Amino acid sequence: MITALVGSQWGDEGKGKVIDIMSSKADVVVRATGGNNAGHTVVSGGKTYKLHLVPSGVLYDGTICCIGAGCVIDPLSLLKEMADVEANGTSLKNLKIDYRAHIVMPYHLVIDGLSEKAKGAGDIGTTKRGIGPCYMDKAERIGIRFYDLIHPEIFAEKLKANLDAKHRYIKGMFGEKETEEERANLTFEKIYNEYSEAGAKLAKYADDCTVIAYNADKEGKYVLFEGAQGTLLDLDMGTYPFVTSSHPVTGGFCVSGGIGPTLIKECIGICKSYTTRVGKGPFPTELFDETGDFIREAGFEYGTTTGRPRRCGWLDLVILKYAVRINGLTGIALNKLDTLTGLKELKVCVGYEKKGEIVTDFPADINELKDCVPVYETLPGWDEDITQAKKLADLPEAARNYLAYVEKYIGCPIKLIGVGPDRTQSFEA
Ligand code: GDP
Ligand code: IMO
Ligand code: MG
Repeated sequence: MITALVGSQWGDEGKGKVIDIMSSKADVVVRATGGNNAGHTVVSGGKTYKLHLVPSGVLYDGTICCIGAGCVIDPLSLLKEMADVEANGTSLKNLKIDYRAHIVMPYHLVIDGLSEKAKGAGDIGTTKRGIGPCYMDKAERIGIRFYDLIHPEIFAEKLKANLDAKHRYIKGMFGEKETEEERANLTFEKIYNEYSEAGAKLAKYADDCTVIAYNADKEGKYVLFEGAQGTLLDLDMGTYPFVTSSHPVTGGFCVSGGIGPTLIKECIGICKSYTTRVGKGPFPTELFDETGDFIREAGFEYGTTTGRPRRCGWLDLVILKYAVRINGLTGIALNKLDTLTGLKELKVCVGYEKKGEIVTDFPADINELKDCVPVYETLPGWDEDITQAKKLADLPEAARNYLAYVEKYIGCPIKLIGVGPDRTQSFEA
């Protein structure tokens, strides 16, 4: 059986935690999209693991963890992450990397930085991990794939062609505004040596992850697809252009993970009990007051990858309903209910008022959002510590009402509730 776990907001919904919990039963975990722009946190036995590209199922010894076809890999960053994982006593013997995954090259990092700088105040606020420029090369069909990286002759040929083109691109687009250091880093010898060495270390993990996932499913095993980013960061369905460059929706698992849609039996959307966003772009329910600060501090809302403070706001049910529709969700895992403890009143956005009309379908273009003012329903809060709750009945009535309200509005059952960062602080509803 295949279950897809997908971010339902703007990322950082607690996917790492839920995937880790569900991985206890999984035979295979597949990351299908994105790269080390992701930061997935798993807390277990007092230890905190921050994973960027290594799938969050890695803490289970027998689970095969795949970095799938649609991912983009910065090999130097991946090797560092792998070393950190191993230093924690975790084995990587079951790690697999799909031949088709694209390689984030040093020039992608430079271009990401220069392109953000060139946009000035209109920048996207990317993670500057070279993700967009790498996917650009993939779409232009000049990208270097993992298969190429581990075949030195092919790698040398593709690198040479790309490097010449990138030097011309950087000069033409940005007037050679890369720093001296960046220019020195972009020589063939330096990149070839460093990346070939990394490729040689990673070669033993190379595999066809589409075969692994398909065969596991056919053999009656349990396969999890691990989402990165979130629905509102999807290149098509998100708040374009303030999005990432891949498809972090359930459809993306099919296209980029190489699995047919009929094989996915369950689609779980992961969300927080409020909303956050890092980087630029519209955020209708964003709070600029002390309640926003309260949520940021109580929920420790600082980026796992970049450390940036996350923008915080009320739960936007228009967005969650959109995520249910776009991803065909069969259930919700709602995290961070504990963060709301202590707030007297909780607001949930039930629509946007736009020129006298109420909109409940998330607008297709962000320009339409400019005239949208959130309409809120106010629900009572609670004061009780809920971090030790093990079942629905352990929650105060106000918390149960909050969950019931969300469920009813979005028309999708809440199946898992998170009341703390540790893998033990979640229970089935
Ligand atoms: P991801 O990118 O979706 O995996 O999420 P991140 O790891 O970037 O951010 C989620 C943060 O919330 C991490 O620090 C988690 O440890 C933490 N977290 C996850 N679930 C809960 C929860 O139910 N309660 C609290 N307080 N923290 C949680
Ligand atoms: P996880 O998997 C939150 C955001 C960036 C920026 C935009 C584009 O941890 O939920 P990019 O570097 O991808 O070109 O940046 O997307 N972004 C994320 N925000 N969580 C993430 O991943 C993100 N990955 C990218 O902040 O706004
Ligand atoms: Mg994250």
